[in-house]
Amino acid sequence: MLRVFLQNQTENTMDENLKRYIELIPKAELHVHVEGTFEPERIFEIAQRNNVPLKYNSVEDLRKAYKFNNLQDFLDIYYGAAKVLLHEQDFYDLTMDYLRKAHANNVVHTEVFFDPQTHTTRGVSFVTVINGITRAMDDAKTEVGVSSKLIMCFLRHLSEKSAMETLESALLHKDKIIAIGLDSSENGHPPSKFFNVFNRVREEGFFVVAHAGEEGPAEYIWEAIDLLEAVRIDHGVSSVDDPGLIEELRDREIPLTVCPLSNLKLKVVENLENIPVKMFLEKGIRVTLNSDDPSYFGGYVNNNYLQTAEALNLSRNDIYTLAKNSFLASFITEKERDVFLEKLLDFENSFI
Ligand code: ADE
Ligand code: ZN
Repeated sequence: MLRVFLQNQTENTMDENLKRYIELIPKAELHVHVEGTFEPERIFEIAQRNNVPLKYNSVEDLRKAYKFNNLQDFLDIYYGAAKVLLHEQDFYDLTMDYLRKAHANNVVHTEVFFDPQTHTTRGVSFVTVINGITRAMDDAKTEVGVSSKLIMCFLRHLSEKSAMETLESALLHKDKIIAIGLDSSENGHPPSKFFNVFNRVREEGFFVVAHAGEEGPAEYIWEAIDLLEAVRIDHGVSSVDDPGLIEELRDREIPLTVCPLSNLKLKVVENLENIPVKMFLEKGIRVTLNSDDPSYFGGYVNNNYLQTAEALNLSRNDIYTLAKNSFLASFITEKERDVFLEKLLDFENSFI
């Protein structure tokens, strides 16, 4: 009896320690959509100040609608909420809210997606969107010390022509954008649909990323890395169906930005035990953990780490590798990377 009691005590202490380790470890977040960090309270506040009607009567009503059977169910609600964003200050508030939350999760560097077409197709100018977001990024750097970079995504359910026009607008703000990606409804919109525009993206010197293998097949990941020359894949979980692809991702050191709670909420997996993070780690894939659309999927980045660690029985060493991968996979300079890696090592050596 006493032994069982002591054993449980040790287990609990270990769990608590790992929990603290996860919460405190410095990390980078590489897959988060700024529009997906829009909290219901803020949606209502901005809707009211902009006089935009919402389909829902209250914050609770809206939250109740957050039950998704697939990616499209979610996107319909996500694009609906984004309609209240009209002015530069709205984009500033949205971004600042996220960056403060990131800081509270010990995110020291974040690479944030934005979807300009979600706004420009409603008549909001590209400049309004990007100025609001980047002003918040600058202020957050001073206010809370979070470093950040911006990634523009093309909506893949729209045409390549629309993506090309969006790229033209972005070229006027080249210094504010580090990479260009592809998101929205995956099935039926393969990376090959955007072959020409991504040739141009690379010519202009942007890094290329792409959502691939979230709901779509492993073939879409091949297209993203071979046709678009993506250097980082967002999600990529369907690579589990193709051992040759796993080897390729490992050999070419192409990171995967996995989002466990997103995959769970969008029914990409039935439960978190089925997220292939442990397998990716064992195969030497540069896998990272991220929140995707945290206000919709029940947790910011630490929650993704905590719930995944619990489901997959991840060790402290696994968590360290995931945090280290987040810096190795980021689009920062070598000098910046060295600073973050040293910070990580200091944390590891001083954590009790
Ligand atoms: N846009 C926002 N979240 C997304 C996701 N999980 N997949 C594709 N597009 C998105
Ligand atoms: Zn995403």
